[in-house]
Amino acid sequence: MQLCCNHLSKYYTRDKKRIPILKDINFSMSERDFIAIQGPSGCGKSTLLNILCGLLPYEEGEYTIDGQLINNNSAADQLRAKSIGVVVQNYALLPYATVLENIMLAKKDKLRALELLKLLHIDPLMKMKVAKLSGGEKQRVAIARALMISPQILMMDEPTGALDSQSRDDLMTLLTDLHTNHHTGLFLVTHDHIVAQHATTIIHMKDGELSQNQ
Ligand SMILES: Nc1ncnc2c1ncn2[C@@H]1O[C@H](COP(=O)(O)OP(=O)(O)OP(=O)(O)O)[C@@H](O)[C@H]1O
Ligand SMILES: [Mg+2]
Repeated sequence: MQLCCNHLSKYYTRDKKRIPILKDINFSMSERDFIAIQGPSGCGKSTLLNILCGLLPYEEGEYTIDGQLINNNSAADQLRAKSIGVVVQNYALLPYATVLENIMLAKKDKLRALELLKLLHIDPLMKMKVAKLSGGEKQRVAIARALMISPQILMMDEPTGALDSQSRDDLMTLLTDLHTNHHTGLFLVTHDHIVAQHATTIIHMKDGELSQNQ
């Protein structure tokens, strides 16, 4: 699976002014990659992740997956349903559904759901409503939901932001295993330098522009 951005730009309108948020982004990745993206708050990291997983539109340039144009369209919806797992920054869980119901929204496979719940140590919570969970518990529910489809590419926005160090280490063991043994491509937005150390490529973003050091 090949993700490819060519001269991609994104604008938001603020006080009637059109403000560039992503500027001429050129980027590509495949299942072979484990990429961490870092940069100051507000520089455009989540905006880029949301475009890459097809949740947000952009105005200029193009973004393709295996040659297919992606711009918040039905092609993107299909890819998210089948091959791209996503954990967005606010988790996007249904608060009044249970943990198990939230996870099985991605795929109706109870055995797999139970396996992931155990792996992320949230199996005792499976019948709880998500609204009652702590931040770190919600984060692990969102991660479990993203893994349900066994994605070819997994994109996560600050996946360890709400986790304690033990949960973070467990998650990094899981992600490293996915990358090394199951050929899952990883694209992580993170402020956590311990998380970034696991990546094979670190990309820096500043004011909507990328710079890379391998
Ligand atoms: N819907 C929107 N309308 C207008 N401006 C927006 C919108 N969404 C994001 N922005 C602006 O775009 C910029 C980039 O936001 P983004 O969420 O991508 O930053 P970020 O790098 O993920 O920051 P953080 O590390 O705090 O999560 C910010 O200045 C933000 O205020
Ligand atoms: Mg963000």
